[in-house]
Amino acid sequence: MTASEPESESGPLQVRGTVLTVRRIDAYYAMTLVAPGIAARFKPGQFVALAVGGPDTSMLLRRAFSIHDVRPDHGGTVEVVFAVSGRGTRWLAERRARDVLDVTGPLGRPFPVPRDPVSCLLVGGGYGSAPLFALAGRLRERRCSVDFLLGAASGDRVFGALTARRTGRSATFTTVDGSLGVRGIVTDMLGQVIHEARTDVIYACGPMPMLRQVTALARRYDLPVQVAVEETMACGIGVCMTCVLPVVGSDGITRMARSCVDGPVFRGEQVRWDDVGTIPFDAFGAPGWEPRARRPPRPGGDGGQAGAGPKSGGQHRPSSPSSPPNPPNPARRQNHGA
Ligand SMILES: Cc1cc2nc3c(=O)[nH]c(=O)nc-3n(C[C@H](O)[C@H](O)[C@H](O)COP(=O)(O)OP(=O)(O)OC[C@H]3O[C@@H](n4cnc5c(N)ncnc54)[C@H](O)[C@@H]3O)c2cc1C
Ligand code: FES
Repeated sequence: MTASEPESESGPLQVRGTVLTVRRIDAYYAMTLVAPGIAARFKPGQFVALAVGGPDTSMLLRRAFSIHDVRPDHGGTVEVVFAVSGRGTRWLAERRARDVLDVTGPLGRPFPVPRDPVSCLLVGGGYGSAPLFALAGRLRERRCSVDFLLGAASGDRVFGALTARRTGRSATFTTVDGSLGVRGIVTDMLGQVIHEARTDVIYACGPMPMLRQVTALARRYDLPVQVAVEETMACGIGVCMTCVLPVVGSDGITRMARSCVDGPVFRGEQVRWDDVGTIPFDAFGAPGWEPRARRPPRPGGDGGQAGAGPKSGGQHRPSSPSSPPNPPNPARRQNHGA
């Protein structure tokens, strides 16, 4: 994989990206990198993994960041927005123009976009708003209307408020301290915005508890919801299984999906939110999992329900109180800028 491959090819690249700028934007840093092949392949919702610390570092793992924006300048630039949360992001914040970073991307599955011009509500928490603006552009190309609902702990952590106001059909903000918009969290306003915007589809990116609640409310309103999850990642390319979470397939079987390659975007109602951070005993390949053929028929069950997803009643079995507790996924942690 090199930057000199034809740009029409899909799939991720590993490139040496040159830092163009690192800017402070309220509580965050925005870093723009010249990375032509990655910019050309990008679709909204995808991310890059940046090597941090330089050649002699002990920080072996790349750090993942959603792509906020790509531009054609300098042959193709990629912008990420990040909060300083540990050693790696502190090192990134100290980079200067012309520094060179090892970048892989674009990684992961992008947000699917509707075929028809529908009403889309984009919900972001903290730096989770960053990937929503490229998505908004793509949705507008499809003649969809775009409403924003963005929130964070405080006004300086609501990323992209001005852009949301300028480009959205409507923009609603919530902050826990009340310094911008309505005091509270995004889900406090979700029902009202759905009504006012006559929402058809929800897209969300932010902390896992927010995504879980957005999904629950979307189900109440019978709306499809696409969520971009943020699970701790080590390799970012599908090899290490650090980033897995339980997801119910359209066949009703729970699988431990890798959020780096099967996600980070999932249909919200397919994620088993109660079991995130564990490996449910009835997940494919787990100790309690049985091939369908060996399961006793359920009374009144259809035995197969081909294609039935959770929206139609689904048949995924949440861990029952009598099951042994699900083993935790040891690699998991929560650390979101919201
Ligand atoms: C798909 C995806 C998109 C992301 N997008 C953004 C973004 O747009 N802006 C932003 O600020 N942050 C984003 N993050 C979180 C970002 O990857 C972490 O903040 C970063 O890895 C922390 O590195 P650190 O060295 O500063 O912190 P440390 O705590 O020192 O990190 C130590 C290790 O833990 C891992 N790690 C720590 N926190 C997280 C986390 N929350 N998620 C995943 N791995 C973590 C790191 O990979 C690293 O290996 C994203 C994470 C994922 C998985
Ligand atoms: S981070 Fe390694 S498989 Fe996803």
